Formats: sequence, structure tokens, C-alpha cells
Amino acid sequence: MSALTTQTTVAVIGAGAMGAGIAQVAAQAGHGVLLHDSRSGAAEQAIANIDSQLAKRVAAGKLAPHQHAACIARLQPCASLEGLADCGLIIEAIVENLAVKRELFAALEALCRPDCILASNTSSLSITTLAAELQRPERMAGLHFFNPAPVMALVEVVSGLATSASVAAALYNTAKAWGKKPVHTRSTPGFIVNRVARPFYAESLRLLQEGAADCASLDALMRDAGGFRMGAFELTDLIGHDVNYAVTCSVFDAYYHDMRFQPSLLQKELVDAGRLGRKSGQGFYDYREAAAKTQPARLTSTSAIEPVVAEGVGALLKPLLQRFEARGITVIQRPGAGLLRIGDATLALSDGRLAAQRARDEGLDNLLLLDLALDYTSATRVGLSWAADCSQSAIDQVVAVLSQAGLHVTPLSDTPALLVLRTVAMLANEAADAVLQGVASPADIDLAMCAGVNYPRGPLAWADALGLATVVHTLHNLQAAYGEARYRPSLLLRRRLAEGRSLHE
Ligand code: NAI
Repeated sequence: MSALTTQTTVAVIGAGAMGAGIAQVAAQAGHGVLLHDSRSGAAEQAIANIDSQLAKRVAAGKLAPHQHAACIARLQPCASLEGLADCGLIIEAIVENLAVKRELFAALEALCRPDCILASNTSSLSITTLAAELQRPERMAGLHFFNPAPVMALVEVVSGLATSASVAAALYNTAKAWGKKPVHTRSTPGFIVNRVARPFYAESLRLLQEGAADCASLDALMRDAGGFRMGAFELTDLIGHDVNYAVTCSVFDAYYHDMRFQPSLLQKELVDAGRLGRKSGQGFYDYREAAAKTQPARLTSTSAIEPVVAEGVGALLKPLLQRFEARGITVIQRPGAGLLRIGDATLALSDGRLAAQRARDEGLDNLLLLDLALDYTSATRVGLSWAADCSQSAIDQVVAVLSQAGLHVTPLSDTPALLVLRTVAMLANEAADAVLQGVASPADIDLAMCAGVNYPRGPLAWADALGLATVVHTLHNLQAAYGEARYRPSLLLRRRLAEGRSLHE
């Protein structure tokens, strides 16, 4: 079914943060929009706020005055539900409460047109459950916008068990016509983004709890090596720990306490203490006026720059070798097992084993392990760990070379798969399991993670680029190191690896 035409009047119920944003998006796309809220004056206030925000965009030269005027003219407050009877699409964005939402949809069904599509912006409730008591559950779907709705491109079009394909297609095409990037997903806990993103927070939280590094160092690695906009601690401080912890708990409960989704005691403690992040002045960081800004740890070295002997280094580390050469470091290439010899040290990309374990397994002295970077050509920082018996001179020699190449070196304790590698492997694992379970297509999952939470690369495309053997091997070694099913590789990763196919095929 094609997009609804702009002749279709859209109703938005709930004039809070999300409802107001969605109403603005629909009005800017050319629809007449009726905004209803049970709180008297809330819809009028929301329209006045949209008016003043658009006026600011006009003043900044980002919006034409006639577009501002036309958008505001299309937005009308509506005091009663009965006033919405002629709408072709009703989007609900009220309080996140199953009973209240169900009551609203039952009331709407009694008064709206038979062809009216009913959509919910819920981020955590099941669309199947919301629609279960409707006379015509096939016309109900999720239409999950991200905050702020006028800015964020992603919209998850969520199909419950009864949602008809034509309703899902109409919503998908309408969201596209509104300038959004829609994706299809089945109604499963967390849909795509709130499920696949869990390891982004969970692995950083785990490393912090294990004392692998401090918040500022872990955040800096996710940004400067991983290419993410923010690290987990600054992001959860921004989202609010009450909100982020509640989402994690709800996904954990919904998946019957699968340990992959286990909430963090560290985050619970912040919630218990009322340290909710920026909004309360303290979270993982201190935002109060006199507070000093925490800096990431960085190693320096006065060691001489040794030549780098690269033994059979694969495609992943080739850009790093080119970077060494561009900075005047001698690189000698010879066949081997993917190791870099620098003075007394041996440096390798982590494969998920502890440095101490790998040193013993492979009989290597002075072994140091490098964390993954999104792109070793442009990264400005890299994570490094080493076995306890590694000599200080070997550490200094490696740090000297990496620093000469323009990389800040941030140390982590000897930790399986360090930070970026383990996070990317776990994101890809979750995304692969979602594909396996028919939640969404690989393309839609990657799009959702890039457009919804600004990841620098879709987790499945990233796994393909790393090579599925690398991802499965890393997860397998993590599972062995922790002895936990949390790190079990998804069947889809193993299957595609065995078939010699990529995740996007
Ligand atoms: P909000 O609290 O800012 O606004 C909710 C509005 O709904 C309030 O103005 C309230 O008066 C009104 N309302 C409550 N019950 C009502 C009823 N029975 N009939 C009519 N109006 C009613 O909430 P927010 O943040 O806008 O969230 C709304 C929905 O969007 C929730 O389902 C939430 O899970 C979902 N969502 C929220 C996101 C966020 O970042 N805040 C992101 C994506 C989805």
C-alpha cells in the first residue's frame, strides 16, 4: 500500500515531548494534524512551542517564513476524542502504560472510520498485546519515532501478530514520504534499536565494574577508536540512568533473564543514589559547577622508535602499518601469524583471549594486545593491554611507536577482547540473533542502528568487514574466558561462517 496522501488528516494523541514532535513532522510534510491531550491546554501549549521553535529556524535562515506559517496553519488542537472521527491515521503518544493505552484504543475504535490506521509510538509495549482486544487488530501497528522526532531520521514500523502487511506498508511509505528512514520490525521486546543497542552499554559497564579502566578512558576509546559519537557513560548520563536502566530491566525481563541483557549493579546504584546523570548534576561524571573534567588515561614513552617487523599481518592491521610508514617508522614485512615485533615486544590484535592466556598458549614473551579501531587510518586513540609479566621496556617500545604514529594510547587491564572489539562483536551477535529470529532484515537492522543511535557503521556490515571468523572466534574466546553463555555466538554467525557467506547475503 502506498503512502497516505496529504489529504489524509492525521491525529496525534499525547502532546508531550514525542507527540508534539510527531505532530510537527506530519504537519511539515503537508498533512492537516489534530493534536489531542487529556491535560487541558497541553495541545495548545505544544503548538505554541512548535511555533516558537520554527520561528527560531526562520530567524537562523534554516526555514522559509511561508513554510513556518503553513506548518502552524495545519496544526489544530482538538479537545475531544470524538473530534478525531474523520482522521485516516491516529498516532498515540501518551503515557507508557498498557492499561491506559488499551482503553484509549478501544475508545478510538468505537468512533473512528473503519479504514483509519491506529498506530502507537510505544517504545516498550507489545503491539500484539495492545491490539489483542480490538475488533480489527489488523489495522494497528507500532510507529516508533526517536527523540527528538523532528530531528531523528529513524522510524521503526512495528508489526504485531495481527498487523496486516498493507497497514505496515502504508506506514512505512508514509514515514518515508515524511522524510524519515523507516524500517520494518516484528513486535519483539526492544524492537530493533532498544534490543541491539544493549551491549553498547552493557560491555562498558562491565569493564568499569571489573576495573579495566575508568569512565573517561572507556568513553574516549569508544569515540576516538570506535568512531561512536559518545561513549556509554556520557551517553547514559545524557539519557538519564532512570530511563536507560528501566529499558535494560524491561528487555532483560522480557527475554526471560537471558544474561546477554543483564542489567548493571553499577547503574542501579546510581539510580538508587538519585545520580541520574546530567539532569540531576551527577551521574558517572560530575556536572556541578566546581567539578573538574575527568581526562582519559594516556601512556607516554621516551623509548627509541624501533622498527616494526610485521609477520603475516592481515587486512585489518594493514592501514596501521601504512600509518607507521607515513610517520617515518621502518616496517619490515615477512610471513607469519599476524604478529608485530617491536623491539622486545610482540603486539597483536586481540582475539578475545586474555593476553596472559594467549602468551602462554603461543609461547610469546612480552605480549601486548591492541583493541579494534573502526579505521586505523583515522583513529586518534587506541586501547592497549598486556600480560602481567610483560616488561616495562617492551610496553615503552610499543607505546613509543603508536605515539609516533599519532595515536593516544589508553591502557586497559588484561581483559578479554578489550573494549571496542568486544562491544562490536556483541552488537553484531545481538543483531545476528535478531535476523535469525525474523525480527528484521539485515539491511533494516544496520540502518536502524545508524539512523536511530548514530552508530558509525551497522553492526552486521561491521562484522562482515571484520570477517565472521574473527567475530565468532572472539565471542568463543570471550565465552571461554568468562565461562558465561552471555557471549555465546549466534547460530546465524556460525551458520554463515560455515556456508562461507556474509550476513548481508
Ligand atoms: P510525555 O510524558 O512527555 O507526554 C505524554 C502526554 O500524554 C502528556 O502530555 C499527557 O498529558 C498525555 N496523556 C497521558 N494520558 C493520556 C490519555 N489517556 N489521553 C490523552 N493524553 C494523555 O511522554 P513522551 O516522552 O512524549 O512519551 C510518549 C510515548 O512515546 C510513550 O509511549 C513513550 O514510551 C514513547 N516514546 C518516548 C520516547 C522518549 O524519548 N521520550 C522515545 C520514543 C517513544
